[in-house]
Amino acid sequence: MLSAVGTDLHIHLLPGIDDGSASVQESMEILTRHYASGIRRIIATPHIRSDFFLNSRQTILPAFEKIRAEANIRYPDLSLGYAAEYFADDYFVMLLETDDLLPLFDEYVLVETSMRTEQPYFRDILRLMIDKGWKPVIAHPERYRPWWSNRKIYDELFEMGVIFQVNLLSLAGKYGPREQEMAELLIQQGKIKAIGSDLHRTVQYDDILKATQNPYFSELSSQPLLNRNEI
Ligand SMILES: [Fe+2]
Repeated sequence: MLSAVGTDLHIHLLPGIDDGSASVQESMEILTRHYASGIRRIIATPHIRSDFFLNSRQTILPAFEKIRAEANIRYPDLSLGYAAEYFADDYFVMLLETDDLLPLFDEYVLVETSMRTEQPYFRDILRLMIDKGWKPVIAHPERYRPWWSNRKIYDELFEMGVIFQVNLLSLAGKYGPREQEMAELLIQQGKIKAIGSDLHRTVQYDDILKATQNPYFSELSSQPLLNRNEI
């Protein structure tokens, strides 16, 4: 179960604003299953990227309000908040320059890059974030294919002080064997400091629970995690 983690800090829970939950009903189903699994804090992280999902506070807050009241009534001890999963593109840099970001909490900002092609400026963007006082949380580092053959990037980014967030679905093998292998290697190396479901749809839920059967999940759950505000 997920009570050992307690917080889901990467989930596409808000209805109708990205490729995640499609309706209020689906969001409530996901919430219900998360609560039953032992999750007591959820930070919803819709995509913000200029080419597909140009979200902002103006789209995120109304979507959040659609589920907040019902969630509070059904699960009064569940803490529900919102942030974003930023794609590190020019639009993100523009937001960063004016510090107009939605952090997970404190200075922690969830950020992703391309899974297929190397983005040469990604490291510079992370550096800029750190210089401006933000703490980058890199979403699913195990899924970036260009990094698999250039593994020193994991060491370099880790030494820069970024936080690597693994996906539960990677530990369940749902993206493929390479993603699972890399997730397990990063856990073994002590580089993973945060866990997220990255859940998009209710149908993925059984796979989320399957991840908890992976021994690496148990190992990671016993280490200090951002999910429990321990780092
Ligand atoms: Fe995501």
